[in-house]
Amino acid sequence: MTATHRTDASTPAPTSYDTAQQRSDAIWRKISSDPAGLRMLTGDRPTGALHIGHYFGSLRNRVRLQELGVESWVLVADYQVITDRDVVGDIQGSVRELLTDYLAVGIDPERATIFCHSAVPALNQLMLPFLSLVTQPELERNPTVKAELAAAGKSAMGGLLLTYPVHQAADILFCHGNLVPVGKDQLPHIEQTRVVARRFNERFAGGEEYFPEPDALLSESPTILGLDGGSKMSKSLGNTVMLRMSPEETLKKIKKAKTDAERRITFDPEGRPEVSNLLTIAAQATGRTPEDIAAEIGDGGSGTLKIFTAEALNEHLAPIRARRAELEQDPGYLLGVLRAGNERANAVADETLARVREFMGMVY
Ligand code: TRP
Repeated sequence: MTATHRTDASTPAPTSYDTAQQRSDAIWRKISSDPAGLRMLTGDRPTGALHIGHYFGSLRNRVRLQELGVESWVLVADYQVITDRDVVGDIQGSVRELLTDYLAVGIDPERATIFCHSAVPALNQLMLPFLSLVTQPELERNPTVKAELAAAGKSAMGGLLLTYPVHQAADILFCHGNLVPVGKDQLPHIEQTRVVARRFNERFAGGEEYFPEPDALLSESPTILGLDGGSKMSKSLGNTVMLRMSPEETLKKIKKAKTDAERRITFDPEGRPEVSNLLTIAAQATGRTPEDIAAEIGDGGSGTLKIFTAEALNEHLAPIRARRAELEQDPGYLLGVLRAGNERANAVADETLARVREFMGMVY
């Protein structure tokens, strides 16, 4: 389960998807048999409420891991919002929406520590020694950062955009997280975190394995496409079903989804991506296979498929939406959850930073 491609600390191993997948498979086996000793750290940028792509792609998986007994830390990554945009916007509102969605889907604040970057100074301070462990070419090679720069439409790379993978290493390592459930796009950041941990241990900790080299846990969940046939659900494109929508809005959105002219419904993600995407959503919501649902609808056409999908989604989301509505009534409670999480995160971050300063001889 640990590094299968461990190299010496001066030559970072290239991110290998196959290697990450193999490690990920081994961890899934460990989680089912013995989750003790696993500490999961996940995070999201607070940019607003979440949609069913987030839910089926990652949130549901986190709740499953929590239920299996994996210790959970959940980061509201507020400093990461300004990596590829100039301003944070309504950050209070975005954080509140994110917290509401977290708790509504079943992240349990009694068992999970929910906290945010900006409230945990010692976490942020770890970035300084960590930055000394990485090089400019290494940072500039990160494919996810390059893609984000291109998507932001900016000509010059911002300092935080270039270095945020090192900040993300601090997110994971401050609490000695060793398990990070992520999508493929985050693998370069996990690899960077492993390199930072390895180099810290060698350079500053005299070879002691002070920081663990965390593993990515790749989710088996499918990617949900946008309802307009676009490659991704994204709130800014308006092609989503938000968790917070009403059943009526959900039906309206799904009815407007792009499909094709063929009457017979079949599951063919390559040839018929839009119809297959609705089948995938319906399958996720019902626990059935997309093929099975396609066979049931048969010649019913996309009208029947849409109604089936909307009803399945509405039924699946009903308890989450009910809980969401309750939570919305109680912003004081939500803030209390975040404050308690911040307090726990600060205690752990202070301890880690104190040890790091000791390693570096910076105790005065
Ligand atoms: N980069 C992640 C994203 O864009 C969010 C994130 C911040 C994160 N810190 C993290 C994810 C630490 C996992 C671990 O979705």
